[in-house]
Amino acid sequence: MITYNEKNRTIKLDTPNTSYVLGIEKGGFLLNLYYGRRLPDDNLWALTRRLASASFSPCDPEYTDFSTDVAPMEYPTNGRGDLRVSALSVRNSDGNSVTDLRYVSHRIFAGKPDMPGLPHLYVTDDSQCETLEVTMCDAYTNVEAVLVYTVFADCDAISKHVRLTNKGDKTVKLECALSRSVDLPSMDYDLITLWGRHAKERQLERRPLAHGLQGIHSKRGSSSHSHNPFAALIENGATETNGNVYGFNLIYSGNYVITAEVDHDATTRIVTGINPEDFGWQLNPGESFITPETVHVFSAEGLGGMSRTFHRLYDTHLIRGRWQKEKRPLLINSWEAAYFDFDTDKLISFAERAKELGIEMLVMDDGWFGKRYDDTTSLGDWKPNPERLPDGVKGLKEKINAIGLELGIWFEPEMVSPDSNLYRAHPDWALQIPGREPALARTQYVLDITREEVREYIYESVASILRESDIRYVKWDMNRPLTDIGSRVTRPGEIYHRYILGLYELMDRLTTEFPDLLLENCSSGGGRFDMGMLCYSPQIWCSDNTDAVARLDIQEGTTLVYPPSAMGAHVSVCPNHLVGRTTDLRTRGYVALAGTFGYELDITKVSDEDMEIVREQVSDYKRFGHLVREGDYYRLASAGSVLCSAGNPVKGGRIGRSYAWSFVSKDKSEVLLTYIQKTGEANVRPEIIKLAGIDRSKRYRLDDGRSYTGDELMNIGFVTDRQRGDGSGSIYHFTAEEV
Ligand code: DGJ
Repeated sequence: MITYNEKNRTIKLDTPNTSYVLGIEKGGFLLNLYYGRRLPDDNLWALTRRLASASFSPCDPEYTDFSTDVAPMEYPTNGRGDLRVSALSVRNSDGNSVTDLRYVSHRIFAGKPDMPGLPHLYVTDDSQCETLEVTMCDAYTNVEAVLVYTVFADCDAISKHVRLTNKGDKTVKLECALSRSVDLPSMDYDLITLWGRHAKERQLERRPLAHGLQGIHSKRGSSSHSHNPFAALIENGATETNGNVYGFNLIYSGNYVITAEVDHDATTRIVTGINPEDFGWQLNPGESFITPETVHVFSAEGLGGMSRTFHRLYDTHLIRGRWQKEKRPLLINSWEAAYFDFDTDKLISFAERAKELGIEMLVMDDGWFGKRYDDTTSLGDWKPNPERLPDGVKGLKEKINAIGLELGIWFEPEMVSPDSNLYRAHPDWALQIPGREPALARTQYVLDITREEVREYIYESVASILRESDIRYVKWDMNRPLTDIGSRVTRPGEIYHRYILGLYELMDRLTTEFPDLLLENCSSGGGRFDMGMLCYSPQIWCSDNTDAVARLDIQEGTTLVYPPSAMGAHVSVCPNHLVGRTTDLRTRGYVALAGTFGYELDITKVSDEDMEIVREQVSDYKRFGHLVREGDYYRLASAGSVLCSAGNPVKGGRIGRSYAWSFVSKDKSEVLLTYIQKTGEANVRPEIIKLAGIDRSKRYRLDDGRSYTGDELMNIGFVTDRQRGDGSGSIYHFTAEEV
């Protein structure tokens, strides 16, 4: 609910448990007065208080008792007095970038405005949310900024983006156009971010804030493995289950920044948006620019509360289409089963064995097109290799269908190999700077999808195969960062963002023409695991590291923000191509079961004994998959040392020896508890795990007949089975019965 208090000139945005308050200061400065636990009233003294200026602070000549440099500014601009990090900087036709926005008007309405060309949150009915639009204007340049906030009736989340319009008669350049800024009155927080690299994505890191700038960014052209576009500020002493946490996320897949600045008064500003480095957007008179949407969440129930809000929001208001709610096909992927070494017969043998086990789809990964016998060639030549697929994709699909499975297919549409017919025909289609040979990565270049003809070629390459062969699953891969940012048609400062807009246009078109399509995004594993992608692709490949023990930290970090239902997770062989460890096949199943679940191994080589375990896993997936897709997720124990970094444990104060998590159905009638011991230890007693989020007043019966009260499970805990080896574990399924 959003309310305007005319007397105090405050606008209060309420979610079920949080409030966010804006103040309109004299002179039209827009202040960021409060964000936190819900306030019952909008007439509180603290909200009517306005900050004065500090000595030597720059002031507007008309308002000398007020300085933007010490006030909590809602959308800080460059060069007029607020000398902290800015959210907006516009270079005007005189050549300077002084920018000064003042309040003009605001309106409050039910529903949420569209954001053409950008992924965004949605509602199915206007009554599910309310929107505030605050219009501000720079009187000197006539650049207008409309700050758009949406509050959701069912989630403690607020989304925000900014619509910038040049209402003047001279061209200007946006040099920094961020989506959001939040000013908090203290620096008593730790900053939590998710760093990573290929095969080690989304590792949680916690560090105390310090004076000055700190934060994360990407200039790789994608959200990247290096830092996920998410940050949390967690109050000192707050944990997984207790304390105040602010979570910030960006619905964007390209270059971004999340910067926190602690100033000389020990206040904290955190800004989020498109990375201003290498960004410069020409805005001609009458033109508009929309920033990506951001999401912020406040939780008074620690990190766990924050994660569940993100999950609910994305499950309900971001992921869309048929696969939002429907059970996803249980698939087996050919990559770790065969890499580049396969033909039709091999794929058929995988499908036949998979069918016996109840697997529903075979995904043909890299290697089916052009002369793609290794990764040095053929990207861009999206025609089936007749040696491997003599009857084309359609012929293979018919054979796989005859066995009783669906066929899915891999593409890497944004790329071109120098050794390809496409590159030979159109060398200028690759991003490049004239006179410089573009850098290679995995022996490939990046296509300039800011160009319409390039997008058209890509679209038809993918769509014609889907049309012809009636394929309903695509793994959309992207295996290198962007470099050599030069285009025949696009202005240099606009390439990165127009690239992402081009990508969104392609994905939007594809999911519109093929509404049944299940798109699984991938980028060298989980290098583009972000909200932008989730809008088109309801599941994202989490990591090329499929080792179950390594996955524990990767998946735990991922769940900090992203719903488990979106987390691509497969059972693979071990040791595998990346990790030399052997982990029990059952554990590999338990870990994959916490995500989308599937297989990625040569199923024809699995022993008879292991086949029985695979059968059990498939049956577990069919019995419990709905809990992962629809239930609430609780992290109950963690051995992830990163969770406990900076000497400040997130979980109950110690580094555990195990991981435990649970999925609780929305009506609390079912619970799936998973317990995995990271490293086997001698002479330790079985661990006791306290359940969370269940109904205290109910009795919960385990599948083996043992029965406990909800109170018992939450207060005393559940005694897990003794585990012996590294990475051994168990799952427990409870069903509630009325007491
Ligand atoms: C990188 C992906 O992460 C893998 O899963 C696989 O699809 C390969 N690319 C194929 O080249």
